[in-house]
Amino acid sequence: MNRRDFVKASTAGLAAVSSGGALQAEVHSGGRPAVISSKNGLRATGKAMEMLRQGADTLEAVVAGVNIVEEDPSDQSVGYGGLPNDEGVVQLDASVMHGPTHGAGSVAALEGIKTPSKVAKLVMERTDHVLLVGEGALKFALAMGFREENLLTDESREMWLKWKRELSPEDDWIDPSDRLPRSVTAQEKRQFQKVLSTYGTINCNAVDENGDISGVTTTSGLSYKIPGRVGDSPIIGAGLYVDNEVGACGSTGRGEANLKSCASFMVVEFMRQGLSPEEAGLRVLKRIAENTVEPYLLDEKGRPNFGLLFYAINKKGEFAGVSLWGGRQYAAHDGKVNRLYDAASLYNEVLDA
Ligand code: GLY
Repeated sequence: MNRRDFVKASTAGLAAVSSGGALQAEVHSGGRPAVISSKNGLRATGKAMEMLRQGADTLEAVVAGVNIVEEDPSDQSVGYGGLPNDEGVVQLDASVMHGPTHGAGSVAALEGIKTPSKVAKLVMERTDHVLLVGEGALKFALAMGFREENLLTDESREMWLKWKRELSPEDDWIDPSDRLPRSVTAQEKRQFQKVLSTYGTINCNAVDENGDISGVTTTSGLSYKIPGRVGDSPIIGAGLYVDNEVGACGSTGRGEANLKSCASFMVVEFMRQGLSPEEAGLRVLKRIAENTVEPYLLDEKGRPNFGLLFYAINKKGEFAGVSLWGGRQYAAHDGKVNRLYDAASLYNEVLDA
């Protein structure tokens, strides 16, 4: 059996376990309004629900929710205090989608602005474009009245300096031969796992009492990335997708995997076909596992060695967080209680990275 066949066989086996219930998480029976977010978004779901109760639009609500985390220097995966690129510069990505108008806006590689989600929303509201990048995105933000600031906190700068000191094997450059099937040493795997463990992001999606849906994803992206690297978060269909007739999905984790699979779009499309948020998310994770062939991205059993999660909600207010690996949680407000839930997972084990 070649490695690709092995992955297919092993994921098929896992799917069988999953349908037996071993890997399923708590089932949420639905109801509106409801808000879901990544684990770092418990304050975001609380804020968004508070605003929905006051009659706010779903996009206003989720953006206000994630702004709390973007402005918090202690969350090093998002906004102010986010971990920088390999030159020590914080570059942020964000996207929004507004279900009722099927509007979308995003920014990528934006420097100097704490709240890229707000800029993304203005791209949607004030331009005929969807995505602004780099210097153009910054000029647009300044024109909209945002203040340019240094986003690198002392703590993030120290972490970047530590990374530079230990740089040798831990960067994002690969040799073309790394993509080809071959045996990879345990040491090489450990090196990549160290790099891959530093994807951080917040996604937040809401459905209101009327069934209107919006979502936002915002991130400082992969830490110590090659300058200009853009992940999935600002790419509509990859790190976020909303269809007001169906539901919403966003993601955290290895953006490159989502970019190659239009993953959030696929989750929403599976929900359109009648799958629950949990079933849709697990099916897309299985597809991504099958399509991951690079030796340095696989563990000794042929499974992806990176973290990836989806946060899906449908029009009825049913929601689920799903993860490639076990032991992960997500935040949700079901209209009554705001709390963390255990995510369903494709693999039971906890990723050791
Ligand atoms: N999912 C965040 C990133 O890859 O940038």
